Amino acid sequence: MNKSDAIPPLEELAAILGTRGFSRDPDDMAPWLTDWRQRYQGRALAMVSPATLAEVVAVVRFAAAHRLPIVPQGGNTSMVAGAVPDDSGRALLLSMRRMNKIRSIRQADNAMVVEAGVILTHVHEAALEVGLRFPLSLGAKGSATIGGLVSTNAGGTQVLRFGPMRALVLGIEAVLPDGSVIESLASLRKDNRGYDLRQLLCGAEGTLGVVTAVTLRLVPVLRQRVVAWVGLDSPQAALDLLRRLEQRLGDSVEGFELVPDIALELVLRHIPGTRAPLATDCPWYVLVECGAVTAGDELQMAFGAVLEDEINAGRVTDAMIAANGAQAEALWHLRDSISEAERHDGTAAKHDVSVAVSDMPRFVMEAAAAVEQRFPGVRVIAFGHLGDGNVHFNVRAALGADSQAWLVREGHDVTAFVDDLVVKAGGSLSAEHGIGQIKLAEFARISEPARLNMLRAIKQALDPHGIMNPGKLLPLAPEDSIP
Ligand code: MLT
Ligand code: ZN
Repeated sequence: MNKSDAIPPLEELAAILGTRGFSRDPDDMAPWLTDWRQRYQGRALAMVSPATLAEVVAVVRFAAAHRLPIVPQGGNTSMVAGAVPDDSGRALLLSMRRMNKIRSIRQADNAMVVEAGVILTHVHEAALEVGLRFPLSLGAKGSATIGGLVSTNAGGTQVLRFGPMRALVLGIEAVLPDGSVIESLASLRKDNRGYDLRQLLCGAEGTLGVVTAVTLRLVPVLRQRVVAWVGLDSPQAALDLLRRLEQRLGDSVEGFELVPDIALELVLRHIPGTRAPLATDCPWYVLVECGAVTAGDELQMAFGAVLEDEINAGRVTDAMIAANGAQAEALWHLRDSISEAERHDGTAAKHDVSVAVSDMPRFVMEAAAAVEQRFPGVRVIAFGHLGDGNVHFNVRAALGADSQAWLVREGHDVTAFVDDLVVKAGGSLSAEHGIGQIKLAEFARISEPARLNMLRAIKQALDPHGIMNPGKLLPLAPEDSIP
């Protein structure tokens, strides 16, 4: 009998993990078997929830011995169904949510050691308590966990100044597919011992091992913060504004988010308590955030002066600077609610694309026109991280159409069309969400063989039995190689 067909002695695992760490109860598991976008419904042999590194090691050794797939999961907020098992029912769903300790804060190193299950908001709060700040943020911050954010190299709305997750990981602890542990949590600024193993695990989507803890980079807290909502004519006008802000305010620009009027309309329609920040309707808006570590009001003054010049020059139509923290949060709430508002409005063909920053304004306009010509009636909503050259290029069904039926009928062709445009523009089909299951086929279709071969070679070397998060990221289903 093949090892994968034998019934594994799960009672051994249950004994190690105890009642809080092991469950086969369908009701316990149900919420964690469907992905956030509700497109994939998986099944699992059991849900295991270790609370310590030693327990994760025990789980991985057990899985390796019995050739069981392991699907690591944090807050289950993946946009690409990267954290739910397939429907074979053979996988162990490895919840990291009980590994939720902040192990230490090393103020003198501007660093914090946290376990994989810590929720991003808790990292923000813990850093603030010691007068420091963790800069990365995103809409799902109240439920996304550090392990998942590292494993997907998450981006979000504050990448401009300090980079995505991988730029903020100074050290890592992980359990490899054979149960061995790589312990590298020292916050070394310089470390030239060959391949960067820490970076290999960032963005690996759990396919090379289980990230159990990381050392995060912290930065000084802001004492001045300016948040503004700016209305303008085009994505190009928005990018021009960013460059002028950078010239006059240095690297204080921390967030620069593009919002088309159609996205704002959706938010105002579906999210209670929201209202338009400007009296003037504009085709495009940007949400800008700038910060400074010094106290005072120079930033606000300098920012206001730039905006005034831009309005006088006719390059900005209208703008509003938040007068206090509550107004700033209200502006961010508009931006962070776009995905939620889209969900209320029906399903869409979603794309998370990047091109060179300078090419993005043209890409947005030309790709939207091309899609709307090729698929008459559809509506494109391109929004997001313009300053990083990353937008969420979502295509919605025609008004009044059944969006689910449309997605089933045309979604595949729309996505292939968009991805071909991205390839032509020299871009990436996944800027910040990862590949997961949702992008697997397209990743295989449009990628150059050398890239796929290199990924497969790394996977084969570290996880020869293909037990780590099979069916994600790697176009060649690793389960096919299980002996
Ligand atoms: C965002 O920037 O709002 C997120 O990445 C979510 C999305 O793409 O829907
Ligand atoms: Zn995003």
